[in-house]
Amino acid sequence: MRFATKAIRIGQNPESEHRSVTYPLYQTSTFAWDQIDEEPKVAYSRVNNPNRLVLEEVLASMENGTHCTCFSSGMAAVVAALSLLEAGDHVLVASDIYGGTHRYIADILPRQGISYAVFDACSPESIGATVTPKTKMVVFESPTNPLLRVCDIRAVVAEAQKHGLITVFDNTFASPALQRPLDLGCDIVIHSTTKYITGHSDVIGGALITANPAYGEAAAEWVKNTGASPSPFDAWLCLRGLKTLALRMERHSQNAMRIAEWLTQQEDVKAVYYPGLADNPFHQVAKSQMDGFSGMLSFEFGTVEMAKTAAMNTKIFLLAESLGGVESLIGYPTLMSHGCMTEEERVERGVHPNLLRLSVGIEDADDLIEDLGNAFAVARQSARVAAVKV
Ligand SMILES: Cc1ncc(COP(=O)(O)O)c(C=O)c1O
Repeated sequence: MRFATKAIRIGQNPESEHRSVTYPLYQTSTFAWDQIDEEPKVAYSRVNNPNRLVLEEVLASMENGTHCTCFSSGMAAVVAALSLLEAGDHVLVASDIYGGTHRYIADILPRQGISYAVFDACSPESIGATVTPKTKMVVFESPTNPLLRVCDIRAVVAEAQKHGLITVFDNTFASPALQRPLDLGCDIVIHSTTKYITGHSDVIGGALITANPAYGEAAAEWVKNTGASPSPFDAWLCLRGLKTLALRMERHSQNAMRIAEWLTQQEDVKAVYYPGLADNPFHQVAKSQMDGFSGMLSFEFGTVEMAKTAAMNTKIFLLAESLGGVESLIGYPTLMSHGCMTEEERVERGVHPNLLRLSVGIEDADDLIEDLGNAFAVARQSARVAAVKV
């Protein structure tokens, strides 16, 4: 079965009683046993539920894995992957990993006796320089937030394998429609299904997918023991969203490309970060491992004031955190996604206060460009008024 068909048909044959075409919602905490000495396949929804099981089957197949466990959030999936570490272990984390993942590794893991070091995934040889005899795992992602840097996944895996490390890859920004890291050699893929996978900004969820039975079983045990399971309705909503993932990603990518090209022609815009642009430094590596460039892009204005004024004056783009939904969002990383970092840390990562991030939705690209154009005109006008006052 090919990718777009998988989401719609895997594990979703009509049930026998009513022949419901849509997989029914099993909104129940517990299931009746037929026999006292025979536990049913699903007994209690913290441990398992039919909606979660079908979602897991579909996600495993979309990532070309064999095991998937779904969680109540992307962070819960991150924590489940990190639970493979034990006291005394050391983990390498990519310098521009999602902030919440970094925070967990930096704040919580040391309390459990697990140390870490930071490496640059765009320079895979930096693994050799940071690895220690205790290093057990590498955690990385691509494209990264907010500058959309793209690392060579195969090269990071090759370097990690030289040292016998488990590779954990966060595929949230690309989704399996555009990038399948298990095929590129990664051991474990994690997702915030909150983003592109559900795609409608109505669920918080996560998933861990692998083709390694030991890691897959450990994740299933972890969700059972920690209770970080998704509700049946969230799993149902996620599966409904997933059915249109292939279509959505095509449109997100097309719209983002149109906007990126338009941005490069705007005189107030200093830099555009989008790996789909032919002159982007990551364009070739992105082409070699992705089937599209996704809907995320960032750009820098000439001044901080213009960036802030433009962000507050779009009408279709909503000023909000998160990404990957059908609706377009505009974000100000300095105060939003990267707001908990110090200014020094932000500057070190290239997150300047004139930077805006877009999660480009699936609306009509002409409307989106018009909306940005109008907001830019307001920003330009207010810059002119400010200059006159001075
Ligand atoms: C790349 C990435 N990974 C993980 C997460 C955490 O996901 P959640 O918010 O669903 O816990 C996020 C959230 O923004 C993210 O962007």
